[in-house]
Amino acid sequence: MGIVALVTSGKGGAGKTTITVNLGATLAQKGARVCLVDFNMGLRNMDIYLGMEDCSLFDLGDVLTGVCKVEKALVRDERFGRLYMLPCPQFKEINGVTAQHVAGLFAVLKKNFDYILVDMPTGIGQTMENAASAADIGIVVVTPDYVSLRNADTVDRKLDVCGLKRRCYLINQVDLELLRSRSVPGIEHIARNMSTPMAGIITWDENIHAGNNMGSPVVLASDSYIAKNFSSIALRIF
Ligand SMILES: Nc1ncnc2c1ncn2[C@@H]1O[C@H](COP(=O)(O)OP(=O)(O)OP(=O)(O)O)[C@@H](O)[C@H]1O
Ligand SMILES: [Mg+2]
Repeated sequence: MGIVALVTSGKGGAGKTTITVNLGATLAQKGARVCLVDFNMGLRNMDIYLGMEDCSLFDLGDVLTGVCKVEKALVRDERFGRLYMLPCPQFKEINGVTAQHVAGLFAVLKKNFDYILVDMPTGIGQTMENAASAADIGIVVVTPDYVSLRNADTVDRKLDVCGLKRRCYLINQVDLELLRSRSVPGIEHIARNMSTPMAGIITWDENIHAGNNMGSPVVLASDSYIAKNFSSIALRIF
C-alpha cells in the first residue's frame, strides 16, 4: 500500500508545488512509483513546473465527477522513471467534493503507487479537511518570516484536529545573508514555534526558480547539492 503525503502551507508562495514536484521526482529517481496530485482546483500550476502543460486530456475534476477512471487522467514524466502527474482543472471549479470522494481517490492511488504527494491549496478549508482525514503524512512548508510561521502553525493544528498525526515541516526559501543579519526569524526560533519534527531546510536558489519556469525540476541534475538535499529530506520524511 502506498503512502499519501499532503504538502501544505499557511501562506501562499511558500513552495508547496516546488517541493511536491522535486520530492516526488527524487523518490521516482530512486525507483519508486510516484503520483503527484494537483489539488489546486481551478488554479493549477504543477503542470508548468513539470513542463507538461499540454500533456493532459482529462483531469482530477473528470475523475471525481466520474467522467473517467483515474488511469485516463494520469500523465507520465519519463525523465524520472515512474513519475506520474494527476492534473487538476484549470478553469472549472468542482463543487460537491466530499471526504468520501477524496478517500476513494486516495484508496485507488495507494493500490498503484508507493508514494502519492498531494500539492494542496494554501491554508485551511474544506479541501484540507477532506484530504487530511484520508492522508498518512502532513508536510507543512514554512518560510523564514513571521507571517508564514504563524500561519504554518495554524495549518499544522488543523491537520492534527483532522486526525493527521504523522506530521513534519520543511523550511524553504532560506536566505543565509538575511539569517546572518538576524532580519528574519532564525532556524531555532522556527523550531521552537513548530510542534512537529523539522524534515529539512531548502535555501533560496535561483536554479530552483529557473527550473520551475523552464519545466525542468532542479533535481534532474542529480549530483547537485539541491538534489542531494532533496534525497536527505525524502529519507527523513519517509
Ligand atoms: N527554494 C527556492 N528557491 C528559489 N525560488 C523558489 C524556491 N521555492 C520556491 N521558489 C519560487 O517561489 C515561488 C512560489 O513557489 P511555489 O509555486 O512552489 O509555491 P506554492 O506554495 O506552491 O504557491 P501557491 O500558494 O501559489 O500554490 C515560485 O516562483 C517558485 O519558483
Ligand atoms: Mg502551488
